[in-house]
Amino acid sequence: MGKRNKITVVGAGNVGASAALWAASKELGDVVLVDIVEGVPQGKALDLAQAAPVEAFDVKLTGTNGYDETKDSDVVIITAGLARKPGMSRDDLLKTNAEIVGNVTEEIAKRSPNAVLIIVSNPLDAMAQVAFKRSGFPKNRVLGMAGVLDSARMRHFLAEALDVSVENVTAFVLGGHGDTMVPLPRYSTCAGIPVTELIPKDQLDAIVKRTANGGAEIVGLLKTGSAYYAPASGAVEMAEAILKDKKKILPCAAYLEGEYGVNNLFVGVPCKLGANGLEKIIEINLTAEERIALHKSAASVQELIDVLGI
Ligand code: NAI
Ligand code: 2OP
Repeated sequence: MGKRNKITVVGAGNVGASAALWAASKELGDVVLVDIVEGVPQGKALDLAQAAPVEAFDVKLTGTNGYDETKDSDVVIITAGLARKPGMSRDDLLKTNAEIVGNVTEEIAKRSPNAVLIIVSNPLDAMAQVAFKRSGFPKNRVLGMAGVLDSARMRHFLAEALDVSVENVTAFVLGGHGDTMVPLPRYSTCAGIPVTELIPKDQLDAIVKRTANGGAEIVGLLKTGSAYYAPASGAVEMAEAILKDKKKILPCAAYLEGEYGVNNLFVGVPCKLGANGLEKIIEINLTAEERIALHKSAASVQELIDVLGI
């Protein structure tokens, strides 16, 4: 028998702990949870390990404040970061999280030089670019998670509107993770039928708007934090596609070098994920209007990259 896969999750907060739960319960491999707060990753790992007998998963769970335990991870999910605090500008948060993600990435890259990195920390596309630069990894091994979440939100809204199983519904979202994201109804389907043929335009427009505003809607309800169940399951779906070499096409933030007319920037596009991480970027035809929207979204990511000077 071969040894189990190893998944490290950095940041044992809401998203990180939920990602550890999904990864363990799917038996994707042994899970290492890392956080700077003493006791929290250890406590959450132990708590999860005590759920294993009931839920019937056999994986090892380790919590730590250091990185030695992360050695030779196959996949690393990075969720470390701060939420915006009163008095902190968007740029302050950008720089603080860039420093956190950059330092975490260096620690990880030193010990797991062959890992695939899945970045979750916000602002997502810019943080993926920070991890790409600081790791020195090739572009196939650095990805950002946002599109799976954004399209899952759209799938939920579409399935609800059509009163069908969520399993029947696919949805397509391109662009950066923010209010400029580009949901594409004409590439979204129910049992293979484009939703544009099933849902009236005004209702579809409302779903597109609600999808783009999906993160803010949840923050508005939770008040003290942001979404975590669906974001964590999105990151774990990406990890599973890689660890099981599924060749699964998922929307992910990937480093573009000319695809879709975007250069040297992380933006959300359809990606084929397998054992080598990003195995192919799928280029689809866009209408002039969709292309303009994608480029507008890319420009908003580029602004953050310019602030960071990377
Ligand atoms: P959280 O505040 O619950 O957890 C963040 C954790 O990171 C905390 O436990 C904190 O101690 C830890 N941390 C801070 N600095 C660290 C460091 N240097 N090393 C290790 N750990 C460190 O936040 P939550 O809800 O888990 O969100 C995490 C990040 O993911 C945020 O940046 C959030 O905006 C982002 N996010 C991104 C989504 C996406 O679609 N890409 C969706 C949801 C959240
Ligand atoms: C979300 O979309 C906060 O990025 C996070 O829920």
